[in-house]
Amino acid sequence: MASNEFQPLQGMSDIRAPEIYIWRMIEEKARTIFACYGYEELRTPSLEKLSVFKRSIGDTTDVVQKEMYAFEDRGGRELALRPEGTAGTIRHLAGRGEEGLNARVFYIAPMFRCERPQAGRKRQFHQVGVEATGEPNPLADAECIALQQHLLDAWGLTGSKIQISTRGAMDDRQPVVDGLRKALQPHLAELCEDCQRRIAENVLRVIDCKNEKCAEIVRRIPSAIEFMSADSRAYLDQVINALKNMGIEVELNPQLVRGLDYYVHTVWEITHDALGAQNAIAGGGRYEIALGKKGIPGVGFAMGMERVITSLEACGITADQFVPRGGIWLVSLGEEALAENMKLARELRAKGIHCGMELAAKSMKAQMRKADRSGAEKVIIRGENEISKGTAMVKNMAEGSQEELKLEDVLRTT
Ligand code: HAM
Repeated sequence: MASNEFQPLQGMSDIRAPEIYIWRMIEEKARTIFACYGYEELRTPSLEKLSVFKRSIGDTTDVVQKEMYAFEDRGGRELALRPEGTAGTIRHLAGRGEEGLNARVFYIAPMFRCERPQAGRKRQFHQVGVEATGEPNPLADAECIALQQHLLDAWGLTGSKIQISTRGAMDDRQPVVDGLRKALQPHLAELCEDCQRRIAENVLRVIDCKNEKCAEIVRRIPSAIEFMSADSRAYLDQVINALKNMGIEVELNPQLVRGLDYYVHTVWEITHDALGAQNAIAGGGRYEIALGKKGIPGVGFAMGMERVITSLEACGITADQFVPRGGIWLVSLGEEALAENMKLARELRAKGIHCGMELAAKSMKAQMRKADRSGAEKVIIRGENEISKGTAMVKNMAEGSQEELKLEDVLRTT
């Protein structure tokens, strides 16, 4: 049998112990913190109508054009695996009427993008994200960034940077596109082939082109922000001031272009140097998503869990630190002790104690080896003799000491 018979698809991973314990730490801390800010959990399906993503994320974006797992199902319906969490969340909230227009929800879920796999870029990855609907308010955007910083601090991540910019209001879009096109026109021949096409299709994409020649031209022309209204620039200033007021440092980066079309006003990204080329741990921003006749305003972010974990590891925080330790191992000498230990294990587990035992009468040596590997703090050893006396030999694994105790005393003290 080929060895890849046992492997998941390229760009996807099985997540197992002990690694799973850092995932659980991240999820548990996030849930506690989200509750402090009044966010409720939302679980939407992984599969949606293709139109849910096309209309929110935008037809000309890479995510929609190149990266979605889109297909027709057996009934001829056009569907897609979600590449991100905002579109499905807003689809859900739009169906909740008034209540959905002023909601705070969070999600922790797998996302799917058919990108070329490389370090930090997967085809199935996981996001911890939030969405808060409601009219544009710079304080809401600042609070959202503060919540993200809170998460990073709680996870123990240091060394990350928050970069912020603005896409301006809807009314700024045309002046920005016109202004950038005009500024780029004299340099057209120097731009890369992709950017020569992008000028007409989606000029903002020229701004974040990775080609050094294009980047150099972009540095010489006015930034998109300079073509925006005074109100839009004031909105961004208010977000930055509110963050300063809370002691949160951000770096203004007018070249920051998020790859999704739904953004208006504030956009931001959090990066970490440990990550290399794919250095964004998180992305977020304010958006306006049109659904039916309604435009749903909101603000939110998503953090890539795999990238958070890589950054944590670079800070010396690893899964091993979160592996649960301790508990009890029961050693049974003979069939009678095995049956009695089954009852004892049931009693201990009912008390919430982590308790393991061998379910066959094996040698003492084999059972002790298992006990040792399990990381148990205490081993309770019983044979015919102890059962008849109502006692147990209790071994403290750290100290190596052993004593015979009354079973009722063992139960009372564990
Ligand atoms: P995004 O920037 O596309 O934004 O993704 C957010 C984060 O997900 C990225 O910063 C990265 O950490 C992680 N990520 C994205 N693609 C991959 C991949 N192929 N492999 C591993 N990690 C990846 C969004 O998804 C928006 N929905 C965020 C948002 C929520 N904006 C407003 N609300």
